Amino acid sequence: MNKKRKLALITGVTGQDGSILADFLLKKNYIVHGVKRRSSSLNSTVRLDRIYQDKFIKNKSFYLHYGDVSDPSFCNRILGEVKPDELYHLAAQSHVAISYELPLYTASVNSLGTLNLLEAIRINNLNKKTKFYNAATSEMYGSLKGKYQNELTPFHPQSPYATSKLFSFWITKNYRDSYNLFASNGILFNHESFSRGETFVTKKITMFIAKYNHYKKGVLYLGNLSSKRDWGFADDYIIGIWKILQHSKPEDFVLSTGKSYSVRDFLKYAFACINIKIIFKGKKDKEIGIDSKTKKVLVKSIPYYYRPNEVTNLIGNNRKAKKVLNWTPKIKFKALVKLMVNEELKNFTPKK
Ligand code: NAP
Ligand code: GDD
Repeated sequence: MNKKRKLALITGVTGQDGSILADFLLKKNYIVHGVKRRSSSLNSTVRLDRIYQDKFIKNKSFYLHYGDVSDPSFCNRILGEVKPDELYHLAAQSHVAISYELPLYTASVNSLGTLNLLEAIRINNLNKKTKFYNAATSEMYGSLKGKYQNELTPFHPQSPYATSKLFSFWITKNYRDSYNLFASNGILFNHESFSRGETFVTKKITMFIAKYNHYKKGVLYLGNLSSKRDWGFADDYIIGIWKILQHSKPEDFVLSTGKSYSVRDFLKYAFACINIKIIFKGKKDKEIGIDSKTKKVLVKSIPYYYRPNEVTNLIGNNRKAKKVLNWTPKIKFKALVKLMVNEELKNFTPKK
């Protein structure tokens, strides 16, 4: 007998995680609906090119809808129309540094956007049908105080982004407890891939490496090279996100690798992939990275990219996800750097 295909709705489908998740769910035979914002350029759907299906194809598996999570009428309508089995809420103003420049906008999208979707589930009486995943974040913890951060660690958000996400975290829990909704938070530590947004540090570095490898010139301007993150591979984390909604009950989970490395470490391994040994001189916003052989300056730390209140270190303990969901990240830090650089080198096209 034919099993009924599951219906998923993804907000933030054009982003790194949304595009990888859409691909993953299609391979699992889901029917996938995604929300994309209207944009003046078609480039915003570039990450979806490999799975895009033309509007006029009958019985498609992948549908795109224009919408914005900060618009409650849209959220009510789309939930009423799609009636998904699983709603993956990934849409966000996701850049920490930009959240200092756009704090109200960030709160409106990240905090109220989440509430709009939860309300839309309730208003459409989907409490028993739709499972809700909220993309919470390790940024909610703020700088590491003990050995690691887990589901019991107190939160201490240090940016408008982190604070807006804390609202989304708690409102998800409130709706779970008040309305018996299957609503879970994933507290995800940094995860990267070739599809990472170009202004996040790993992608900024790996794109520079590909350019430098070709032109043999240029300087990469960065902020704080000492700050440390628990970096994993996005594809591993997408499996974790899916597993969170397949669990027998709604709960919150940390997804992390358990190891943290500095931006400087990332630079070292990334340059090593193109056979450059980089050495560092100076401190803080006077620090520079030099090619040990040619003595060319490759990297400069400048105040412009420093944040008003830097989260200095994050390390997650993923024991709960391991035990309850049987989830473990496969790709380790060095392999991640190599994978990102190699993909960048492969896709590099010089300007004519
Ligand atoms: P991303 O690449 O920046 O993608 C964000 C997505 O949200 C994009 O599709 C974006 O659309 C969409 N979006 C932004 N504002 C919107 C709005 N008002 N209405 C509808 N859609 C909107 O982020 P990501 O790295 O995939 O992360 C996915 C989610 O996980 C985010 O919520 C992020 O905060 C959270 N998170 C990420 C990490 C990480 O390391 N990647 C870790 C923890 C938590 P456009 O393409 O039009 O901009
Ligand atoms: N973006 C950026 N650009 N970061 C830099 C730079 C630079 O030029 N130079 C140093 N950094 C440092 C930042 O100060 C931060 O400590 C670290 O590199 C990582 O920065 P991002 O890649 O911007 O990521 P993030 O950690 O701030 O936020 C990401 O991870 C969070 C989970 O911990 C985002 O994906 C968030 O959406 C996510 O919640």
